Amino acid sequence: MEPTQAGQVVVIGSGLIGRSWTMVFAGGGFRVKLYDIVQQQITSALEYISKEMKELEKSGMLKGTLNAEKQFSLISGCTDLKTAVDGAMFIQECTPEKLELKKKIFGQLDLIVSNDVILSSSTSTLLPTKLFTGLKHVKQCIVAHPVNPPYYVPLVELVPHPETEPSTVDKTHALMKKIGQSPVKLTKEIDGFVLNRLQYAVISEAWRLVGEGVISPADLDLVMSDGLGMRYAFIGPLETMHLNAEGMTNYCERYREGMIHVLKTFGPVPDFSGEIEQQISQAMSEKTPADPEHLNASQSTGRKSGRRRDIVLSLPHWKTHLSRDTRRLLWRREDLL
Ligand SMILES: NC(=O)c1ccc[n+]([C@@H]2O[C@H](COP(=O)([O-])OP(=O)(O)OC[C@H]3O[C@@H](n4cnc5c(N)ncnc54)[C@H](O)[C@@H]3O)[C@@H](O)[C@H]2O)c1
Repeated sequence: MEPTQAGQVVVIGSGLIGRSWTMVFAGGGFRVKLYDIVQQQITSALEYISKEMKELEKSGMLKGTLNAEKQFSLISGCTDLKTAVDGAMFIQECTPEKLELKKKIFGQLDLIVSNDVILSSSTSTLLPTKLFTGLKHVKQCIVAHPVNPPYYVPLVELVPHPETEPSTVDKTHALMKKIGQSPVKLTKEIDGFVLNRLQYAVISEAWRLVGEGVISPADLDLVMSDGLGMRYAFIGPLETMHLNAEGMTNYCERYREGMIHVLKTFGPVPDFSGEIEQQISQAMSEKTPADPEHLNASQSTGRKSGRRRDIVLSLPHWKTHLSRDTRRLLWRREDLL
């Protein structure tokens, strides 16, 4: 089977994220080598990918222009690192989140790769200076942090090392666009990158509000799922501000004082333990008992298919079918106040 894109991609680590990246790259028409140190992991990853692609095809949700069989034929497994990276143009590392292990892998890659391949890590938390400093090929290194699982959630945060060449960032950005992802560029590293910083800001205020007895855990979640989240799935917070008034300047004029007043009432960073943790844990467990069977059945992004996965799956479909104008109409200023 001929790939529709020139260049070979290597995925290192065939766990949850590696499998999903493999499907994304094959969906984009790239030949993919899936490398792991455990042969059994590769075997089960290939079985999973084959089954998943067929199911996605059946439900009309398969990405890309090639059919499932053709996409699957672009993927091969490999347990020899040198063979895997031979001729590669892009390497996406997806091994467990352990600094020493990842440093070891990038150290091994540094010795065998060419000067034009891009070395990319899926790390959620490790900063590029921790991962890549001292590597001979540091200019070619970048973090491309996906959201779990990248097949269903397109955002990818691109985080450079201070010595990463701008062309590495640009090429990675272009590649991500080509395979249907939604890349964003950070100009420098920062703890939590951007997605988790936003997520933690929301989580910490949610925690404080429940802890202070202002609202129940279930109602707090409704504020997001039936309120803010409805909007933010389509329009980000900054564009929301712009549309929520006669432009951004007008928004700031109107709401600056109020925002600052409310923000000054925010409490300290919670410790996420103790009585409040117990209260929230109990409330969440009433809805979904915290055992593997119930959690797997409800997870949108877990290792097994869950009922909420269908919702996550259909969101991109919805988003592309709602034109920008329709979105603006749906979120008119008066609806946002
Ligand atoms: N799971 C998430 O929600 C999520 C989201 C975004 C990013 N990430 C990041 O993606 C990376 C992978 O996470 P995951 O959840 O897929 O982990 P995982 O445990 O599911 O998979 C890790 C895989 O790496 C393999 N592996 C271990 N040592 C190896 C080595 N030396 N060489 C090659 N392969 C090796 C394992 O056999 C396994 O198949 C982590 O850095 C994680 O932080 C995870």
